[in-house]
Amino acid sequence: MKTYDFVVLGSGIAGLSFALKAARHGSVALITKRSGAESNTAHAQGGVACVTSGEDSFDLHVRDTLTAGAGLCNEAVVRTIVTEGPARIQELMELGVHFDERDLEGGERELDLGREGGHSKRRVLHARDATGREIELSLLRAAQASARIDLLENHMAVDLLTTGKLGFATEDRCVGVYVLNEATGNVETFRTDRLILATGGCGKVYLYTTNPKVATGDGVAMAWRAGATIANMEFVQFHPTCLFHPAGSSFLISEAVRGEGGRLVDAKGREFMGKYHPRGALAPRDIVARAIDAEMKRTGAPCVYLDISHKPPEFVRERFPNIYETCLKLGIDITQEPIPVVPAAHYQCGGVLTDVNGATSLRGLYAIGEVACTGLHGANRLASNSLLEAVVLAHRAIGHVLMDVPFNGHPPHEIALPEWVSGDAHDVDEMVVIYHNWDEIRRLMWDYVGIVRTDKRLKRASTRLRSLLREIQEFYWDFKVNTDLLELRNLATVAALIVDCALLRKESRGLHYTLDYPETDDLHWLRNTEIHRF
Ligand code: SIN
Repeated sequence: MKTYDFVVLGSGIAGLSFALKAARHGSVALITKRSGAESNTAHAQGGVACVTSGEDSFDLHVRDTLTAGAGLCNEAVVRTIVTEGPARIQELMELGVHFDERDLEGGERELDLGREGGHSKRRVLHARDATGREIELSLLRAAQASARIDLLENHMAVDLLTTGKLGFATEDRCVGVYVLNEATGNVETFRTDRLILATGGCGKVYLYTTNPKVATGDGVAMAWRAGATIANMEFVQFHPTCLFHPAGSSFLISEAVRGEGGRLVDAKGREFMGKYHPRGALAPRDIVARAIDAEMKRTGAPCVYLDISHKPPEFVRERFPNIYETCLKLGIDITQEPIPVVPAAHYQCGGVLTDVNGATSLRGLYAIGEVACTGLHGANRLASNSLLEAVVLAHRAIGHVLMDVPFNGHPPHEIALPEWVSGDAHDVDEMVVIYHNWDEIRRLMWDYVGIVRTDKRLKRASTRLRSLLREIQEFYWDFKVNTDLLELRNLATVAALIVDCALLRKESRGLHYTLDYPETDDLHWLRNTEIHRF
């Protein structure tokens, strides 16, 4: 049994930022299921949206965010995150994060601001086209140097421990977590009063995604099982431009490419976005993704193309070195030819419902970053707002957590928690069942719960997922847990939550588009879809 003042699950920008602040106040276990650097953050290309220029304003950033969010953003939350952003960006820079700058006349320099879809101004701070990697590595270095942070790699959280589940006749609250140590195969018990979910999103629930392998919705699934409120899971953002190539299946082609003049064209080189939105290729993401989907369905083509080859080659190589090198290795010279692209699942706008401090409906449990639904994104996230949200919420959460009252006035080490019992469970004998179910879920979600939905397809998905969940649950009780089985269980749970929320919303709004209810219905649906287990 291990006792910590803070237990943080996940080592992306949200988890690392929180852990660094928490370490000033107590001991921190930073638990991450693969290596410290393996996170969605590390794959973020575009950057961090933040008002830093005199030509921009908080009001404009708030307005752009609300417009993208299609009526469902919480305006107070948006304003808080936007206005607190610059101070948090300053802290990142003090920790060594380097954002690109450009030369001004007279030898001065200023931050080089990128443009992305839905933004009325240039306001995206970036480190070339690998911003997430720059942030991730800087924060990770700082966390590794902290004596108060135990970075536990290859450790995967299994389930949260709550007083309710343990039978305490008291207010329900989170008091710890069971964690699988992959090296030993044992499940260890971590005791804490302050558990922070920073586990990222669930892109792997879909067949095609820009997300890395780790994005299996673990935080949402665990919070759901623990009884926390989950909201807006129907709003899955599909990024319009993921590389279409058998050997580069989840590689993102940043929206910044369109921001710098990249044109979306069909196989014959004809631009098509003008038909769909006055802002063309820089329309909000849901519109661009749906337009590409419609073009592909109309023409039967397997992809569309993003063309930046009309720009000077040296500019393209300098601004997008990561995309240039990756495509070149696959035989595509983006300075000379268009890039084949398709939409792919990219970001979970819903999640564990929190307030603007990251507090969930379960006392002692906080959620920050992509796992959380704070009200910033509403029905559609504005590009590059997520890294901003993560740093602001990490800062606000530590302030709130410290004011929270400990369980019954007792420090966490006085609460008796049961150890994990494996019972008669034996090792999984047929991993093929796990892999088969995993593939089936991802294909089913892509085919039935994708960019354009219908009730019939959603119901079909729901029936099949229920049956898969029963099968997986039997596996879970009969066999010793391993990472693949735990991820499959979480993936199936999150898939079912997406379908449940999508079936509830009888309208089209933002990222949720259904042929059965193609109109937006403000009278009945200007609200979150909230679901609880109990
Ligand atoms: C991108 O670079 O297009 C991704 C940015 C984001 O998802 O916010």
